Amino acid sequence: MASNPNILITGGAGFIGSHVIRRMVNRYPDYHIINLDALTYAGNLNNLLDVQDADNYEFVKGDITDHDLVAQLVSEKKITGIIHLAAESHVDRSIEDPMAFVKTNVLGTGNLLDAARKVWKQNGVEGRFYHISTDEVYGELGPTGYFTEETPYAPRSPYSASKAASDHLVRAYFSTFGFPIVISNCSNNYGPNQFPEKLIPLMIHNIQHQKELPVYGDGSNIRDWLYVEDHAEAIDVIYHRGKAGETYNIGGGNEWKNIDLVRTLCKLMDDKMGRLLGTSEELIRFVKDRQGHDHRYAIDFSKLTRELGWTPATDFTTGLSKTIDWYLENQEWINQVTDGSYQQFYTRQYHER
Ligand code: NAD
Ligand code: DAU
Repeated sequence: MASNPNILITGGAGFIGSHVIRRMVNRYPDYHIINLDALTYAGNLNNLLDVQDADNYEFVKGDITDHDLVAQLVSEKKITGIIHLAAESHVDRSIEDPMAFVKTNVLGTGNLLDAARKVWKQNGVEGRFYHISTDEVYGELGPTGYFTEETPYAPRSPYSASKAASDHLVRAYFSTFGFPIVISNCSNNYGPNQFPEKLIPLMIHNIQHQKELPVYGDGSNIRDWLYVEDHAEAIDVIYHRGKAGETYNIGGGNEWKNIDLVRTLCKLMDDKMGRLLGTSEELIRFVKDRQGHDHRYAIDFSKLTRELGWTPATDFTTGLSKTIDWYLENQEWINQVTDGSYQQFYTRQYHER
């Protein structure tokens, strides 16, 4: 692939996007990185304070559903590569408000594809459109087996259905127009800067403040956890060396039952906060289950290892410890994101279920 000096990254102010931006800005000084983000409740420019003044970085506030804006950006900034992360990403919010997910995840992705294809065709650009997706498009697993790139799609929540729809659109642009796409489907990420609506940061926050720890159902659901910087590395590798038209699964090889994970966090935090071992576990409460709660996700990422040499680098205990330390050391960040609107969501989600 030719070098792609002007890269548009969507959703770069969010959790994973900010780690991708940091990596690309620092590793590729010759690239110009443009971050397009609407700054929804999940977008936060404080995630990028250390790179915001870099010469090769620029932020544009805008919505991916705005066709004129996207077409203008791709044209005027001479964009030759797009890494698309912008999305509504939280399953519980998709149960509360599915149409927000249809709008951003389906229409927004269609809009980016349409604008980039037209501008690139007009200007004779041979670009790269990299769509970041999720393992949830494959549905749920029973106690055994893994999702491979050939697993049929069977999404079960409005979030995963909207991501599946966007994946189909992206692939259709490859088969219909020969548009140069690549897709990856990743398992659950964790690490610094994750919005505290998601399991790990929510539990860290509640343990710190000795609030109840809401575990859905009986806590037996299983997720495969990957440290966010390892995902950012996989994205870098796939963007540069992935084959056009291909899909790559990304995972941690690190399956945990939710209840075991929450108990591990309790122990780690009792230790870090100088509390008697067992103090935090007393805060665990089994609450009403998530509607349509997928039982288990587990990813076979052997294609990515075989073809592009990527494997996860961070072991879970190290990653969790770094993550807890980051949240404990960044009180201002957490105070800012747990403001009024987050409190309202929390009340609806956990006290009116
Ligand atoms: P996030 O919710 O933390 O961040 C999403 C970002 O997108 C925010 O900065 C938000 O402001 C921006 N955004 C939302 N709607 C927008 C719009 N209409 N126009 C422009 N910007 C908009 O999400 P995340 O957890 O960082 O996930 C990023 C991507 O990775 C998503 O596509 C998600 O589906 C995918 N993914 C996430 C995980 C995970 O565990 N978090 C795992 C696999 C795949
Ligand atoms: O698998 C990849 C997906 O992982 C991403 O595509 C999504 O964007 C991301 O949000 C994540 O989805 P999950 O639904 O798996 O993540 P969440 O952190 O919301 O929940 C993880 C598990 O913990 C899940 O089984 C539900 C459970 N849970 C979650 C919360 C927020 C609880 O038991 N209690 C909670 O309070």
